[in-house]
This record gives sequence, C-alpha cells and structure tokens, in this order.
Amino acid sequence: MRIDRFLSDMGAGTRTEIKKAIKAGRVSAGGVTVTDPGMHVAGGEVVFCGRTYLYEPFVYYMLNKPAGVVTATEDRRQRTVLDLIEEPKRKDIFPVGRLDKDTEGLLLITNDGDLAHNLLSPKKHADKVYFVRLSGLVTGEDVTAFAAGLYVDETLTALPAELVILSTDAEKNTSECEITIREGKFHQVKRMFAAVGKEVLYLKRLRMGPLTLDPALPVGAWRRLTAEEIRALTEQ
Ligand code: URA
Repeated sequence: MRIDRFLSDMGAGTRTEIKKAIKAGRVSAGGVTVTDPGMHVAGGEVVFCGRTYLYEPFVYYMLNKPAGVVTATEDRRQRTVLDLIEEPKRKDIFPVGRLDKDTEGLLLITNDGDLAHNLLSPKKHADKVYFVRLSGLVTGEDVTAFAAGLYVDETLTALPAELVILSTDAEKNTSECEITIREGKFHQVKRMFAAVGKEVLYLKRLRMGPLTLDPALPVGAWRRLTAEEIRALTEQ
C-alpha cells in the first residue's frame, strides 16, 4: 500500500497534510526518511510527525459487544461497534456478520475481506453458538423441532440447529439454553424461538467457527486476536 494512503487510512491527516509532511522530511518508514508519497509499505513502523503507526496488511480484533451499540461501520446517531475500538485504527475495518443492537458477545472486526467471506459463506456453514435466556419453558419437543430444521415463516426454514437446555425455572417461567446455528439470517435466533412460542430476553454470542469469546474480556472491551486464533480462522 502507498504510504500516503496508509497514513490517511489511519486518520493521521489529509492527503495534502501528509504530502506536506513528507516534503518537510517528517515521515519515516523503518527508520528511513520518506521522500516519495507514492512509496509502498509492506510492513513495520511508519513515523508521522513524531507519532508511530504500525503497518499491517490485515488487522483482527475480538470485541465483546455490549448491548446498545449498533453493528455498523458508521451511524449518524448511534454508537457503533467500531467506536468502541479506541486505538488509532484503519478506515477499512468492518464487523464480520451482524449482531442486533440488544445482543452481546463475540464480534470479529477485521479488514480481511476473504476471511470474512469464508466465515459468512453459507457453503462453509461456520457454527455460531449463542447463550440465550428466554421467557417460557423450553421443552424436549423444541429440541427435536430445532434439530429437524424448523419452519419459521415463508421466508425462513432454519437449517438443523442444536439446542441444549441449560436450566428451566417453572416459577419464573424462564429458561436458559445454548443454541448452535449454521447460518445467520436476520434475527434468526429470536425468530426461531418465537416460532415455538418463546421470547428471547437476553442473547449473547459465544463462538463463531473456530473463534471463541475470551471469557476474560469484559463486556464492551476488545483485544487483538492472537496469532493462533488468526491461524485457526485462516485455516478453516
Ligand atoms: N440471532 C438474533 O436473533 N439476533 C442476533 O443478534 C444474532 C442472532
């Protein structure tokens, strides 16, 4: 990538400011002063007016999404999941798949389009595991219906899904379950439970393909993926 493009993608300044800084000898890459705004960077540190930016072709973040933020790259009125990543960041990152505003949990954010495509491709059927708290008592019949592939409405017959009942509380009329689905249709989990007469009160994604939500990551916090997590995702 061109160094001027990289710096503008990182929000270091406008293209004009960056060109000016390069002319003034205030930009270096790998310790060498840059003279050409069109120079390509392949990796390493770029220093712009005293501030260091790390050039990596691909970046990967794990976010423990809180409720109340939207899964979008930008929104005029509401806070987005990208607003939660506070380090200087590239402009080309995006969330992989969508969680509803009131859903919490695992969200992968990256600029690796091929990886995102692979994870979301219906052909690959990457498992998504959710913890669900519901109003209503989940039954063995629900487990069987989910496993068979549930008819939800004329727009959705879900692929077979695994439903594990963790607990039910007859007094409060609530249940807790873990559900594994292999697709990601709009409001899928909520619609599946609604189809068997239950209402989702709380939803949290725990896993997506080989990537598991780090239990040490507080709600609203993020971290970079480890090399091992990236390898597991790219090898799948
Ligand atoms: N299914 C839903 O209904 N909502 C989500 O956010 C994710 C899966």
